[in-house]
Amino acid sequence: MTFGKCYRLCFWYFFISVIDAIHHGPAMIPLDSQEGIQHPITFTSTWQILGPFQIGTREATWGSDPLEFFGGFRNLQYDEETHYRSSIGTNGTVKWALFESKSTKSNSSGSDVSLSVTFPKVDWTFLQSVYGWAALQYQAWARGEITVTADEPQTVLLYTDYILEYWIDDNHYFGGDFYGFRKAPLVIRLQPGSHRIDIRLVRDVRSMGGVGTPEINVELALRLVSGSLELAKDGILIADVVDGRLASPLASVVVRNTGGEDVTILGVEAMNDSVSASTIDPGFVVSAGQTRPVIFTVSLHEAHSSSVEIAIRYERTGGVGGISFLTVSQALTRRSIYSPHKITHLHPNFIVSYAILRPPWRNATCHPGKNSSLPVLLQLHGAGLEADDDLVAHALDPIPDLCAWVLFPAGVTPWSGDDWHSWGFADVEHAVHFIPSWIEAVDWQGPGVNLNRWLISGHSNGGQGTWYALTHRPSNVIAAAPVSGYTSIQKYVPYEFWQPIDPRRSAILSGSLNSYRHEMLIDNCRGIPILQQHGRADDNVPTYHSRFLSQLLLQANVSSQYYELRDEGHWFDGVMTTTHLREFYQEQVANNVEIDDNLQTFSLVVATPGDMGPKGGIRVTQLEIPGQYGRIDVIFNATSGAYALKTSNVMSFEIHYRFLRSSSVVVDDREMRSQLPDGNSPLIDHGQISLQRALDGVWEVHDVMNPGVIHRSGRQLGSLDAILRVLGHFTIRHQSAETFEIALQVSRNLFQYFSADSAIINSSLTGDYGTGNIITIGIGEHLHPSAHSRFPIEVTASSLLIRDCEGSEKVYEGEDGLSAIFLRPLNDERLELVIWGVDKRSLQLAARLVPMLTGVGQPDFVVMRRSCLWKGAEGAVAMGFFDHSWNVSKSSLIG
Ligand SMILES: *[C@@H]1O[C@H](CO)[C@@H](O)[C@H](O)[C@H]1NC(C)=O
Ligand SMILES: *[C@@H]1O[C@H](CO)[C@@H](O)[C@H](O)[C@H]1NC(C)=O
Ligand SMILES: *[C@@H]1O[C@H](CO)[C@@H](O)[C@H](O)[C@H]1NC(C)=O
Ligand SMILES: *[C@@H]1O[C@H](CO)[C@@H](O)[C@H](O)[C@H]1NC(C)=O
Ligand SMILES: *[C@@H]1O[C@H](CO)[C@@H](O)[C@H](O)[C@H]1NC(C)=O
Ligand SMILES: *[C@@H]1O[C@H](CO)[C@@H](O)[C@H](O)[C@H]1NC(C)=O
Ligand SMILES: *[C@@H]1O[C@H](CO)[C@@H](O)[C@H](O)[C@H]1NC(C)=O
Ligand SMILES: *[C@@H]1O[C@H](CO)[C@@H](O)[C@H](O)[C@H]1NC(C)=O
Ligand SMILES: *[C@@H]1O[C@H](CO)[C@@H](O)[C@H](O)[C@H]1NC(C)=O
Repeated sequence: MTFGKCYRLCFWYFFISVIDAIHHGPAMIPLDSQEGIQHPITFTSTWQILGPFQIGTREATWGSDPLEFFGGFRNLQYDEETHYRSSIGTNGTVKWALFESKSTKSNSSGSDVSLSVTFPKVDWTFLQSVYGWAALQYQAWARGEITVTADEPQTVLLYTDYILEYWIDDNHYFGGDFYGFRKAPLVIRLQPGSHRIDIRLVRDVRSMGGVGTPEINVELALRLVSGSLELAKDGILIADVVDGRLASPLASVVVRNTGGEDVTILGVEAMNDSVSASTIDPGFVVSAGQTRPVIFTVSLHEAHSSSVEIAIRYERTGGVGGISFLTVSQALTRRSIYSPHKITHLHPNFIVSYAILRPPWRNATCHPGKNSSLPVLLQLHGAGLEADDDLVAHALDPIPDLCAWVLFPAGVTPWSGDDWHSWGFADVEHAVHFIPSWIEAVDWQGPGVNLNRWLISGHSNGGQGTWYALTHRPSNVIAAAPVSGYTSIQKYVPYEFWQPIDPRRSAILSGSLNSYRHEMLIDNCRGIPILQQHGRADDNVPTYHSRFLSQLLLQANVSSQYYELRDEGHWFDGVMTTTHLREFYQEQVANNVEIDDNLQTFSLVVATPGDMGPKGGIRVTQLEIPGQYGRIDVIFNATSGAYALKTSNVMSFEIHYRFLRSSSVVVDDREMRSQLPDGNSPLIDHGQISLQRALDGVWEVHDVMNPGVIHRSGRQLGSLDAILRVLGHFTIRHQSAETFEIALQVSRNLFQYFSADSAIINSSLTGDYGTGNIITIGIGEHLHPSAHSRFPIEVTASSLLIRDCEGSEKVYEGEDGLSAIFLRPLNDERLELVIWGVDKRSLQLAARLVPMLTGVGQPDFVVMRRSCLWKGAEGAVAMGFFDHSWNVSKSSLIG
């Protein structure tokens, strides 16, 4: 939660009238804003509500809906007399109620409805006093109607702000738009008449707030569309113009295919001679209903151009109807080269992202000349904000003369993709590495940049991102200032109120979030100066987080300062430039110390090598047991010049050849000095020597591992969200009309939550597989075979087999919604995510777990039954991790 949330909160709490749950509205008649006018499509203003029921933090992805025990809300009819048992209802029961929407509006182009639901009979205050913020999260369902009064079927967009899951008539949709981004609405064609819409209401403290009445506010909007290729967002994402030049040539436009047939994008052309534009990826397909970014480069021929106008050339796949054009224009923003301005760069998913850059000021007295390179000051924004909001981009204006390259990364979305983790942090690193291209593009003559030295700070969610950088890139961070940050999602909003679950299962779920539990990784901060700041009156991120980490930093022997501001809340003007923060930035950018060179005695803690950089010249490359932390403690004896390394749960690691200069290197009581190669040996790769634990437990010098499909390595390591470590667009392959809807849902959710690009491909045809990871969707025996010849999970038409690490096989028969989601290897460190079900309904169950919201906790594989829908994760029959050789790890559960 966040700064953005605070804004949303302030809005909701002060401007929204609370509606009484027992209010009985009129019967369900479509209500038009202007009487007498028939609008083509309308929402009802009265909604039938059933709830509240308990739900845990981010648990809804797993199901855990008690009404599913009765066959689902969709199968229940409004009845004032029926009681449903509920752990949070008065008298242990809840009943149906009618709610009047806060507002319903319709016009000739669509209809909007907003609902503000509260349950004032529940004693939230008492529940909260016992269970904390977890008690302010709950779920319920609401039923309304969409009426198409037009005589013809209507193609519409449906926006579902703050909603995760809904049904329209008999169709289920998972993903929605939980943060209200409005980036990838559902495209749906509705027949004349009335359509039932059931929406699942899920309250989430991180995104909806923890102060005041626990309301659920959701918005639905229908918009009629043309049924062809349309702009999904007005304008072009393009860099600012600095001193008459574009700060970067990369640009993108988001298009949506609202037609019933696929569209092929043929190219992009400039509409005006003052500009030229060229497509990067011509000939790509936007499937029916899909939203995708079109990326291209732009160059300006006239320094004074004030806007860019381009045309996207496309045709319906198959060429029917000829070539069409979609035009879009964008006014250019001009900035002085020294003021914060927008640069565009590629995210590894091959999408255009942006950051705000402020190069070192001409008046700053830094070392002059091109060779003196200055560090990068990274500032990470809070949730709900864009990097180009003035509050972010101008936060450091009060200190213009810093000797650093100041960079405000976007993190791709206002929630930085996945809270600045795999997806969002990749954006940060790509923005940093774009600086040399900027230097060239604008012919910069000032000081250079050192891409490997970062001073990092951030606020709220960005404070948490700062901890992520500290604990995962300790060799790059020269100093850090986390401000009002939280330590992990589990500590933020407790996981109480999940459905009961076998501790073995909860350990697996929890283990798959290891990388994001910064309190466990604090040892990695050793040697890095840290300044923490937090407002004592913060009711959004409790000061507890900073106080707690401050205490852990002391125990980890990390030098840190802690400032608690007595009268301040979560955010205030100047929060990032208080006196001690200014002094800290000034002092640290001038500090030329090489963090790693000074480290002699330290520890390295690794959740997953897939997202972990080196520290002190050591990098862990494989863990023995995934889902469990690994660590290496390094002790240096200054008298003898000897290193002693103790490892725990580490299978292989690399050490820098500087260790060769010491008198002795003992790894787990075994002297390695004699085995280590000399400086010219081919076993030294980029200054690194690879050590691996042999089967008898003895450490040996090893060739750098060949990244085939046999060894799980690099980007493949991690839990299910390792699929997000992609180089290129995603490819979603599927085989039938039945699987297309799920393919489209996955594509929609990837774009909604990560701005991620994906191509949807018919798996029986060859297509645009790109270089990225593949998501394979299959039903029954129709599943693309694995690239790994003896992969431990195999499916048939009606069953699934898992081979455990000892080679014994367990077969699950295909009744009760058997379905599964799991990773498989591809070559070149790529991954495949398999979503499989014995039938279409089961497939929908597995598709819920495709990474989307943080904190859900998906391990490498999960085999599910329909009972997940009410039992949550306890309904999974098998789950766990794959080890370094893609075998099912011992820590897995095969029930
Ligand atoms: C309390 O719940 C029971 C069923 O559990 C129901 O029969 C009874 O009517 C409820 N009382 C009220 C006041 O709702
Ligand atoms: C209809 O209402 C929406 C918002 O409620 C608005 O954005 C849109 O411009 C309106 N359309 C027309 C044709 O008035
Ligand atoms: C192209 O656009 C620029 C401004 O954006 C304008 O000054 C110029 O006249 C235009 N040229 C043509 C050929 O339309
Ligand atoms: C910055 O330096 C320039 C000369 O290099 C000078 O003209 C200008 O006044 C200085 N600005 C400030 C704010 O000191
Ligand atoms: C910058 O570095 C290069 C290579 O290290 C060197 O050749 C050049 O002379 C240096 N220039 C200055 C101005 O120091
Ligand atoms: C803490 O670090 C300091 C300086 O790096 C060192 O002298 C001291 O021995 C360390 N203490 C412990 C308990 O590791
Ligand atoms: C460090 O090395 C010296 C010389 O070999 C030895 O006497 C001493 O015991 C070692 N210290 C520790 C803490 O192992
Ligand atoms: C995929 O291609 C095959 C072969 O052309 C075709 O039979 C099948 O209908 C296609 N499936 C979809 C969903 O388009
Ligand atoms: C992986 O499991 C298989 C049994 O399925 C076993 O034969 C093989 O030795 C295991 N590989 C490793 C590296 O443990």
